[in-house]
Amino acid sequence: MSDLFVKVQETQTALKAEKLDTPEALEAFRIRFLGSNGQVKSLMGEMRNVPNEQKRDFGQAVNALKQEAETLFQSAKAELEARAEQAAALDLDLTAPGEPLPLGARHPVSVTLNRIIEIFNRIGFVVADGPEIEHDWYNFTAMNTPEDHPARDMQDTFYVVDAPGMLLRTHTSNVQARVMTTRKPPIRIIAPGRVYRNETISARSHAQFHQVEGLYIDEGVSFADMKQTLLYFAQEMFGAPRIRLRPSFFPFTEPSAEMDVWLGTDTEENYRLTKGTGWLEILGCGMVDPQVLENCGIDSRKYSGFAFGMGIERQALRLFNIPDIRLLFENDVRMLRQFAAAL
Ligand code: DAH
Repeated sequence: MSDLFVKVQETQTALKAEKLDTPEALEAFRIRFLGSNGQVKSLMGEMRNVPNEQKRDFGQAVNALKQEAETLFQSAKAELEARAEQAAALDLDLTAPGEPLPLGARHPVSVTLNRIIEIFNRIGFVVADGPEIEHDWYNFTAMNTPEDHPARDMQDTFYVVDAPGMLLRTHTSNVQARVMTTRKPPIRIIAPGRVYRNETISARSHAQFHQVEGLYIDEGVSFADMKQTLLYFAQEMFGAPRIRLRPSFFPFTEPSAEMDVWLGTDTEENYRLTKGTGWLEILGCGMVDPQVLENCGIDSRKYSGFAFGMGIERQALRLFNIPDIRLLFENDVRMLRQFAAAL
């Protein structure tokens, strides 16, 4: 056998002896045996020195050598990669703090609503519920606003086309009728919820918004009880030292009033919000009209009561210093996120 065949055999022995247990060793192996200046290549270059009758055998021997080198290289490479992956998995630090999760927060309207509910809960008012798609009777007629009453003009709404007499409630006062027709006095409820009006949408009004209704009926309930209840609310909610009741009209109360709370004009915000007067109007109220009690099956000679209704959005705007009511309904997370941190 010629020297060249011996050399092939020696190379074969040498590559089998290699320890390919690091990426560096693997790369050195590749350069030494398989690279463009490597031993396999140089053995192939010896072909021209091989006598013709041996060329075939020599070619086969070098090819087999090349195959072997490549197989060794590929399997060692796969092995090293698998080991690296395992090591990376073990490298997990189980005590490391987790990735921060974006936390949600309550919507400013819900926060405001919950505050209102909590204040009235403290003095014995419990939450009552009523439907948003309501029968005309509960929304208007029972509340002393019959079909041709001019007060309906101020509360135009959306009617359900294929259900005559059904509409989107214009106020939470429908819950008064719902509660009075199903429960016996004493009644002491608040009814928060969404209401609808056929209104042009602007910075200060919207076609959908939220109200909280209040109703208190028992023997001997007076205007003084109402005033004290509402003063308590104004103090708790706004820290307001004073309230003001202005005579007003609602079909379902007599007498009726509108309530302002004193914010003052010390800050620019309060000045703007109260249009320079210091007073912020927040609710309508009054003594439940005896006719409403009778409409709902309550004896008006035995019982009397007061009711009130307030918008929530305007209070939310004040609480969070938000300039435009539409921002509350767009549900743009960039807007809402600002309050997530504050709550
Ligand atoms: N429902 C009235 C409105 O939406 C607000 C209101 C005024 C409710 C007086 C009452 C009340 O319960 O007594 O404008």
